[in-house]
Amino acid sequence: MREKILDVQDFKVSFYQDQGKLQVVRGIDLFLRKGEMIGIVGESGSGKSVTVSSLIKLQDESISSIDQGSVLFEGENLVNLSEKKLASIRGKRIAYIFQNPSQALNPYKRIGKQLESVLKAHRQPYSYPLICEALKEVGIDSPDTVYNMYPFQLSGGQNQRIMIALCILSKPDILIADEPTSSIDASLRKRILDLLIKVNKKYQMSIILITHDFDVAKYLCERIHIMYGGLIVEEGILKEVFHKPLHPYTNELIKCARSLDLGDENIYSLEGSPIIPNEFRDECPFYLRCDKRMEKCLTKIPPIYTIESRKVRCMLYEGTVSHG
Ligand SMILES: Nc1ncnc2c1ncn2[C@@H]1O[C@H](COP(=O)(O)OP(=O)(O)O)[C@@H](O)[C@H]1O
Ligand SMILES: [Mg+2]
Repeated sequence: MREKILDVQDFKVSFYQDQGKLQVVRGIDLFLRKGEMIGIVGESGSGKSVTVSSLIKLQDESISSIDQGSVLFEGENLVNLSEKKLASIRGKRIAYIFQNPSQALNPYKRIGKQLESVLKAHRQPYSYPLICEALKEVGIDSPDTVYNMYPFQLSGGQNQRIMIALCILSKPDILIADEPTSSIDASLRKRILDLLIKVNKKYQMSIILITHDFDVAKYLCERIHIMYGGLIVEEGILKEVFHKPLHPYTNELIKCARSLDLGDENIYSLEGSPIIPNEFRDECPFYLRCDKRMEKCLTKIPPIYTIESRKVRCMLYEGTVSHG
């Protein structure tokens, strides 16, 4: 079995509000092996971005806080690291690709200069051919021209490619891709996903993919985590989860994905809206939308039940081996 490169345990994150702290991530367990691609899937607002961006403290400490948990990266707990040490990990060892690449690229700096900065940060000598090679590798056909362009002169898809080229130059151990194809034309999405597969295979880069789209996860990931209401409600090998979802929420998400796949005229959609942090209680977050709800689902946050290689946070599985 490949070694774990990242191990997250009982991770909780809150935002400061006028009324006090509001917890939005309520105890996440997650690990990533070397060279593995895992997915976190869930509707918008379930806490995916806050979780992964807080792992490397991308959120300003004046607006959010990590309340609990540990994030082990090569044996070091990132939660306790100094800002200086974290800064040496961000981008270099753990890189982050945003839904909207313009969030990460500097609008006032030519593309070539931004790629040069990566080499500088890695104390590598400046090399025009190396940068052009990285641009070609991500499918930019005329690297000479793009080198001198600004991000606004490129399309969203091209800028996302530039982000991946930055990763090829910096070769991080972990790449966190947060909805990397959501702001890109459908026709180009597959090409970006194929690029992620390529960097994963070629450089053994471990990837955490965040998406609200089950199909995107299906295309890339070996293991998947289903997130709802600030909790992971199911985890397992993607193929197994897809063929036999255990959590009623996962089942609904898959029904939506299948109906889109089949081009059904009546596209299946999930009833009701996702729970928001103000409504979090010590009960199952999916209760109101669940067609299998029982009274006992309101007595506590369901624990995690382990069923063979699968994990599920649902009272339907009470009586099987439980953890946490
Ligand atoms: N800066 C913020 N201040 C307060 N609440 C926030 C902030 N950013 C996100 N949230 C809340 O945290 C929850 C999770 O958000 P997010 O992680 O962005 O969801 P996802 O990525 O799954 O769509 C949401 O309810 C959102 O409203
Ligand atoms: Mg998000």
